[in-house]
Amino acid sequence: MAGLVLAVETSCDETAAAVVAGGREVRSSVVSSQVDLHAHFGGVVPELAGRAHLERIVPVVTEALAAAGLGGVAAPPVDAVAATVGPGLIGALLVGVSFAKALAMGWGVPFVGVNHLEGHLYASLLEDPGIELPAVVVLVSGGHSLIVKMTGPRAYAVLGATVDDAAGEAFDKVARFLGLAYPGGPAIEQAAKRGDPAAIAFPRPMLREGLDLSFSGLKTAVVHHVRAHPDVDSADVAASFQAAVVEILVLKAMRAARAVAARSVCLAGGVAANGPLREAFRAAAGAAGLGVYLPSLAMCTDNAAMIAAAAHYNLAADGPTSLGAGAEPGLGFPGAISR
Ligand code: KG4
Ligand code: ZN
Repeated sequence: MAGLVLAVETSCDETAAAVVAGGREVRSSVVSSQVDLHAHFGGVVPELAGRAHLERIVPVVTEALAAAGLGGVAAPPVDAVAATVGPGLIGALLVGVSFAKALAMGWGVPFVGVNHLEGHLYASLLEDPGIELPAVVVLVSGGHSLIVKMTGPRAYAVLGATVDDAAGEAFDKVARFLGLAYPGGPAIEQAAKRGDPAAIAFPRPMLREGLDLSFSGLKTAVVHHVRAHPDVDSADVAASFQAAVVEILVLKAMRAARAVAARSVCLAGGVAANGPLREAFRAAAGAAGLGVYLPSLAMCTDNAAMIAAAAHYNLAADGPTSLGAGAEPGLGFPGAISR
């Protein structure tokens, strides 16, 4: 049982719990998505998210413990209980943080607070323990877009970040503008299958230099183009927009890998589920002689296994988190930005 961590993740619209051994071996991972609840509103409604977490947290944790063979085991069944403390929606975070603290207190085991963004970084490490380091990880989610150099667990430096919108946010906003379903990423990917990626030459902001990212101008270019050409095929718009995002992310990842002499490149976060992005990433890394690690689709989007993995390393390095610590909705990525 050594090194068993139960983690819960409630930062946004997924209620998730997982049991991971030694920061590496996933014993169980349960995710209850609230997508259906929020789709009607075209985005996550914070108040509804918090209430839904409260309803689902007990069944989700119970299922995760049972799936790990820990159902009905005399307490304490794990060595630590972890929760995402931020960034995220405050009403959503508080459910997971309070629940995890109460379990840790009741079982007399350490509580470990985890930064959600740090959690995403562990998705590749969890599934590919043989990853060649240093690695450049492109972390692209609904709220954040970062290019990070990772030399090992807890050893990372931010090489670049978005100066405006996150990549997933751009997918969501463009999808909403085109009248596509929420969440926007999968909807754009689906629509793009019927379109021509070369139909419209959308701009690739900040492509020529540096490792920072920008997606706001691209989003605005889509809006202007559709307003100027009301009869345009929305599948062509989706395909051309997606092609621009893919080109930007792949080019910046390869530039970052050269800059820090990385041995491999990884994708992380919800946008990493995008098929054309994964294909282009794999091809570019292969051509550059780099290792490439693409988490499974379930590990790209929000889950608690990645939070449990991060918690394992946090606990070893920093010890338990105080039970007096709160949730931090605006928490940034740990570590200095080194450009
Ligand atoms: O990591 P995640 O599940 O939650 C956050 O921490 O934000 O990422 C959600 C984001 C959303 O913006 C969603 O539209 C995007 O990931 N996404 C995708 C795809 N699947 C999810 N973007 C592009 N293509 C996809 N297949
Ligand atoms: Zn996330």
